[in-house]
Amino acid sequence: MAALRLPGIKACVFDAYGTLFDVASAAAREKDALGAKWQPLAELWRAKQLQYTWLRGLMGRHADFWQVTRDALDFALASLDLEDQPLRERLMALYLELQAYPEVKDTLARLKANGMKLAILSNGEPKMLAAAARNSGIADLLDAVLSVEEVQVFKPHPSVYRLPADRFGLGPQNMCFVSSNGWDAHAAKAFGYRVIWCNRFAQAPERIPQDPDGQIETLAALPGIVSE
Ligand code: LAC
Repeated sequence: MAALRLPGIKACVFDAYGTLFDVASAAAREKDALGAKWQPLAELWRAKQLQYTWLRGLMGRHADFWQVTRDALDFALASLDLEDQPLRERLMALYLELQAYPEVKDTLARLKANGMKLAILSNGEPKMLAAAARNSGIADLLDAVLSVEEVQVFKPHPSVYRLPADRFGLGPQNMCFVSSNGWDAHAAKAFGYRVIWCNRFAQAPERIPQDPDGQIETLAALPGIVSE
């Protein structure tokens, strides 16, 4: 099979949580307190956080991602019988210091050296995104950090995906959107971007419009696909 190539790409736009930043790393760093429940907590916290974004979008009741993340954590802690106020505060503080996946910084630096514009497009609230980008050492590599707070509705609303195209003045067909969240990759493709699904956990393909252009296992493969 011929190697995947996407010519004519001028900008790469990355999802944040799960794609650049490891959302499980907050609970992982509290393993001593959580014991065997750290992983169930990480998974339920993330699943509920996403559910709440979709539910709030449908209800027309937006709240920022910091609040949604806290609400989801409260649900997860209560469900697993882990309610503990200091632990809750520590987990929320750790969410501002999520670890980037190991290949992230080097990959962004390679893309930047090739003249690519780089941005984040995320549900994250701007202060959360700024803290995560700073802590993981990638802030200086980014041309834009775009938050759904500009449009007051979460992904996958199409108005979110409009933000990077407007910011860079480029057509979405000249931009590559990259997400590890399959549903986010499909929604960006439905909007009109070229899309790479970074399928870190070998998940089955989503059955929603519209299939991404290709998939990779880590971001390290991206420069070979989009560079001229
Ligand atoms: C984000 C969520 C989808 O960063 O992970 O937008």
